[in-house]
Amino acid sequence: KKSTGIRPILYRADLLDKPAIDNFEEQNIEAVIHFAGFKAVGESVQKPLEYYHNNITGTLMLCQSMREHGCKKIVFSSSATVYGMNNPVPFKEGMPTSATNPYGYTKVMIEQILSDLYVADKEWSVILLRYFNPIGAMKGLIGEDPNGIPNNLLPYIAQVAIGKLPCLSVFGDDYDTVDGTGVRDYIHVVDLALGHLKAIDYSLSHTGVEAINLGTGNGTSVLQILHAFEKACGHSINYKIAPRRAGDIASCYADASKAKEMLGWEATRTIEDMCRTGWNFISKNPNGLENKSLSSIAQIKRKKLTEVYQSALYISQKDRLLCGFIPRAGAEIPQHTIARNWVQAQPVGLRSPPLRILFFYEKSIQKRIKEDTSS
Ligand code: UFG
Repeated sequence: KKSTGIRPILYRADLLDKPAIDNFEEQNIEAVIHFAGFKAVGESVQKPLEYYHNNITGTLMLCQSMREHGCKKIVFSSSATVYGMNNPVPFKEGMPTSATNPYGYTKVMIEQILSDLYVADKEWSVILLRYFNPIGAMKGLIGEDPNGIPNNLLPYIAQVAIGKLPCLSVFGDDYDTVDGTGVRDYIHVVDLALGHLKAIDYSLSHTGVEAINLGTGNGTSVLQILHAFEKACGHSINYKIAPRRAGDIASCYADASKAKEMLGWEATRTIEDMCRTGWNFISKNPNGLENKSLSSIAQIKRKKLTEVYQSALYISQKDRLLCGFIPRAGAEIPQHTIARNWVQAQPVGLRSPPLRILFFYEKSIQKRIKEDTSS
């Protein structure tokens, strides 16, 4: 709410708990953005069963529930990792996909599963967003807060810069790149988020399967990023050259033209923006977000049902939905007074096309909604 002025409804649920996600009918969900998955490459090698179960089974449960409720639009968080080790850069969506670890295989497999849904039923709209390397933060409020020692470059650099870690290890300086260090396509997380809105817009008016890269199209080396971060934080950052990390490739960057042509989206934020906002975030949250998010969950738990409805309606009155739901055109008039008043007060009828996004919810809130509806 602080960053957008909008208070989204938040439900907490596990995709492996199918009854908990069988809420489509009740909420009139029209589209789903599926971000829910384990994502650490190294951990996936240690815990393949956990990764396959959580990522694959969770997706199967979600899609079953969507199908049962006639919701057939999905935007999936895939990854540039599906381009594997053997494709030349820049990566284009039509290239063959492959993986080198269980995490990567879950992305390849889920892309296949979702594509097969469309083969069987042409009403599906499936958008596979292949993220490159999202970094940066939003207004010092939302940013990366990894558990334990960070695996990824930017949170690691940020923690060295703030003094929590002593030194960055640069994994290899003998790659065939501009300065020998690994090159990646870093994308500001806000640009990435905007790409999702465009993808949802597209899915509302199209069926089919589209894989789309979300990257800038530019490669930046580890040392280039390190120096950009030094500028952002105003002091030098301690680093040493270390051996290559197993499984790394020299260069990974997108051909970003399909997103521009198909979605009308392109990344606009620079490496400087990414480092500045990343530094702002860690400076304001040197100990991470844990306490803050716990307190906001507590607030949601305390919310009364009327407030839950008010939040939903408030969101739906905005021009642009970051997340929220509005009543489906032709849907039953809600029984709740505030909801009913709002629906009946729409001068030009309901938005067209109506948009709904699934929220994973806490059981306590679902129970209150059910109790209210039945009374
Ligand atoms: N690096 C270091 N030191 C570190 C961490 C990283 O030198 O402490 C280097 C890596 O060797 C690589 C670059 O920084 O050259 C970026 O590494 P990240 O771990 O931040 O990101 P990756 O490109 O390896 O992987 C990320 C995601 C994956 C995703 C992939 C898609 O973490 O989930 O992008 O291309 F699959």
